[in-house]
Amino acid sequence: MKLVFWHWFLLFVTLVPSSLGLTSDGLALLALSKNLMLPNNISSNWNASNATPCKWNSVTCDKRGNVISLDLTSSGISGSLGPEIGHLEYLQVLSLSDNNISGSIPPELGNCNMLEQLDLSQNFLSGQIPASMGNLKKLSLLSLYSNSLSGAIPKELFKNQFMEKVYLHSNQLSGSIPFSGEMKSLRSLWLHENMLSGVLPDSICNCTKLEELYLLDNQLGGDLPKNLSDIKGLRIFDATTNNFTGEIPFSFEKNCKLEIFILSFNQIRGEIPKWLGNCSSLTQLAFVNNSLSGQIPPAVGLLRNITYLLLSQNNLSGPIPPEIGNCRLLLWLELDANQLEGTVPKELANLRNLQKLFLFENRLTGDFPEDIWSIQSLQSVLIYRNGFTGKLPSVLAELKLLQNITLFDNFFTGAIPPGLGANSHLVEVDFTNNSFVGGIPPNICSGKTLRILDLGSNHLTGSIPSGVVDCPSLERLIVQDNSFSGHIPEFRNCMGLNYIDLSHNGFAGPVPPNVFSNCHCLVQIRPQANSLNVSIPGFRDCTNLGIIDLSYNTFSDKTPPKYVYCVRCNGRKGGSFT
Ligand SMILES: *[C@@H]1O[C@H](CO)[C@@H](O)[C@H](O)[C@H]1NC(C)=O
Ligand SMILES: *[C@@H]1O[C@H](CO)[C@@H](O)[C@H](O)[C@H]1NC(C)=O
Ligand SMILES: *[C@@H]1O[C@H](CO)[C@@H](O)[C@H](O)[C@H]1NC(C)=O
Ligand SMILES: *[C@@H]1O[C@H](CO)[C@@H](O)[C@H](O)[C@H]1NC(C)=O
Ligand SMILES: *[C@@H]1O[C@H](CO)[C@@H](O)[C@H](O)[C@H]1NC(C)=O
Ligand SMILES: *[C@@H]1O[C@H](CO)[C@@H](O)[C@H](O)[C@H]1NC(C)=O
Ligand SMILES: *[C@@H]1O[C@H](CO)[C@@H](O)[C@H](O)[C@H]1NC(C)=O
Ligand SMILES: *[C@@H]1O[C@H](CO)[C@@H](O)[C@H](O)[C@H]1NC(C)=O
Ligand SMILES: *[C@@H]1O[C@H](CO)[C@@H](O)[C@H](O)[C@H]1NC(C)=O
Ligand SMILES: *[C@@H]1O[C@H](CO)[C@@H](O)[C@H](O)[C@H]1NC(C)=O
Ligand SMILES: *[C@@H]1O[C@H](CO)[C@@H](O)[C@H](O)[C@H]1NC(C)=O
Ligand SMILES: *[C@@H]1O[C@H](CO)[C@@H](O)[C@H](O)[C@H]1NC(C)=O
Repeated sequence: MKLVFWHWFLLFVTLVPSSLGLTSDGLALLALSKNLMLPNNISSNWNASNATPCKWNSVTCDKRGNVISLDLTSSGISGSLGPEIGHLEYLQVLSLSDNNISGSIPPELGNCNMLEQLDLSQNFLSGQIPASMGNLKKLSLLSLYSNSLSGAIPKELFKNQFMEKVYLHSNQLSGSIPFSGEMKSLRSLWLHENMLSGVLPDSICNCTKLEELYLLDNQLGGDLPKNLSDIKGLRIFDATTNNFTGEIPFSFEKNCKLEIFILSFNQIRGEIPKWLGNCSSLTQLAFVNNSLSGQIPPAVGLLRNITYLLLSQNNLSGPIPPEIGNCRLLLWLELDANQLEGTVPKELANLRNLQKLFLFENRLTGDFPEDIWSIQSLQSVLIYRNGFTGKLPSVLAELKLLQNITLFDNFFTGAIPPGLGANSHLVEVDFTNNSFVGGIPPNICSGKTLRILDLGSNHLTGSIPSGVVDCPSLERLIVQDNSFSGHIPEFRNCMGLNYIDLSHNGFAGPVPPNVFSNCHCLVQIRPQANSLNVSIPGFRDCTNLGIIDLSYNTFSDKTPPKYVYCVRCNGRKGGSFT
């Protein structure tokens, strides 16, 4: 009823002089509120009997009573934006950000040609961006991010010389970037998380005021623009996960302002440019998973503000430059999966803020510098699959933040520091295939977070400490191929354990009958090739057991089964007895 009335009334006042009642802007707002569901706390004073809407919640007028701003940010609005928006011809600011508005953007919005700021971000808008929005010649902020907009970006939209900030990210926009180099005022262009394809047009280099360019997670490809460095003030360039190819063709050698320069997950070839050393403002530099070759330029040591240096998964060769030790603010140093050779420079121990050190899968050799193990901020040290030698110093056990330490496939010797785990919340420890001697640190699980303990193929001795047997978080325990002895312990507290490998050790004697009966998701146990005297029925209570391999032991039963399958493991089918 009410809606029908307003529809009629709107028609009426457009035919009759407006002195009779509410201004046409007010009528347009009421008409808008037909489709846009305003909560009571806003619509409560949107009163049709007022002469102007200027005192209404969320509405601002100029001196003549024209509506110049409608700000309904985070107001709990649902419904859709109707064509009546086009009647608000004096509107300069429209924000409907962070609501539940659905439907499409009405083409009539293009009539609001005084608009300077348009923010429809964080809604459920779908459909295409109307080409008529190219008429909004005064627009300086266009924010449509986090919606479900699809189709191409209309080329008319990118011809606006006053446009400063464009946020179109997190939609489903496709097609190419319709750049023509006319947006001379552009400072921020955020296009990430769409399905944009084609090249990054050269004309972008005409937007010389550009500071922030986010392109990540699209399908852009081809060469990067040669003249990108014409954009003197560019601070952020992030093109992660696209298909860019070729070498880095530009040079920001003079007055580099870059702070974030990221090309990870592309197909960039060639060498890491030396001019990067002149970008002392850089805080993040990442080229993960490209085809870069050549050496890491020592000039990276000039990047005094760098916090993330991520060069993993390329074809980089040569040594790790000792100059990296000058980058005192480094938090993450990731050089894994390359062809790096030589020793790890002892200067890396100067990185007193380092949290992650990833050097795995290279050809690094020599003693791993012991001083690195006294960097108190270390959380994750992944250096597996190299040719490292040396010992682990006892200071390693004092690191309080250490979670993950994986050294497997190296030539480390000596004992595992006996205090390891006593002061930290270890999660993953993998020392497989080294030459460690001595026992398992008794407090390795005192943080109660240890999930993986992998110590296989070393020369370890003694028994499995009760701290490991009772470790509540443990999922995987592998001690195969060592010289452990004594009885197989009784795992009473092993709810999460799904893999135990005790094989090829000196475990002996009888196995306690219900040794694994609390292990609710034990998928595989491999105690083969010990000197066990097993009574097979002891395992039959363990309903969740998946595989047990008891081969090469001494048994009291006549014919031990090589494998035992039980039926259930957290609902998964395990198989059957063989
Ligand atoms: C609407 O405005 C009229 C006149 O200004 C006033 O009499 C009336 O009470 C208002 N209605 C509401 C619901 O505020
Ligand atoms: C907005 O949408 C979300 C999820 O679709 C829903 O949970 C929420 O209740 C909606 N809020 C309003 C004000 O409609
Ligand atoms: C109005 O109510 C909605 C919920 O219906 C709430 O999200 C919003 O913050 C409120 N606005 C004001 C100005 O109180
Ligand atoms: C850059 O701008 C100049 C002058 O406005 C224009 O002549 C030129 O064509 C533009 N270049 C590109 C690549 O858009
Ligand atoms: C890159 O191109 C390849 C083949 O041309 C395609 O399979 C892949 O999905 C593309 N990746 C991205 C991120 O666009
Ligand atoms: C790149 O810049 C050079 C010199 O400023 C200019 O001659 C050339 O036309 C530009 N190339 C493009 C593709 O804009
Ligand atoms: C770039 O850095 C190098 C090495 O520090 C320096 O010799 C050169 O002058 C710098 N170039 C510019 C243009 O500042
Ligand atoms: C390095 O960071 C500090 C603190 O954020 C800042 O003051 C300084 O300007 C930065 N240096 C460069 C060369 O950008
Ligand atoms: C890059 O990532 C792809 C996909 O994850 C992977 O197959 C490839 O091995 C990686 N390249 C390198 C050099 O690690
Ligand atoms: C990596 O570089 C070496 C030379 O250093 C070269 O022989 C090899 O083909 C390169 N591999 C890839 C995948 O580019
Ligand atoms: C340690 O490893 C676990 C399991 O791989 C992972 O979830 C966690 O994020 C890692 N912690 C750190 C600090 O890298
Ligand atoms: C043990 O590590 C060394 C050094 O990385 C490697 O050469 C060897 O292949 C590894 N052995 C096994 C069985 O993986």
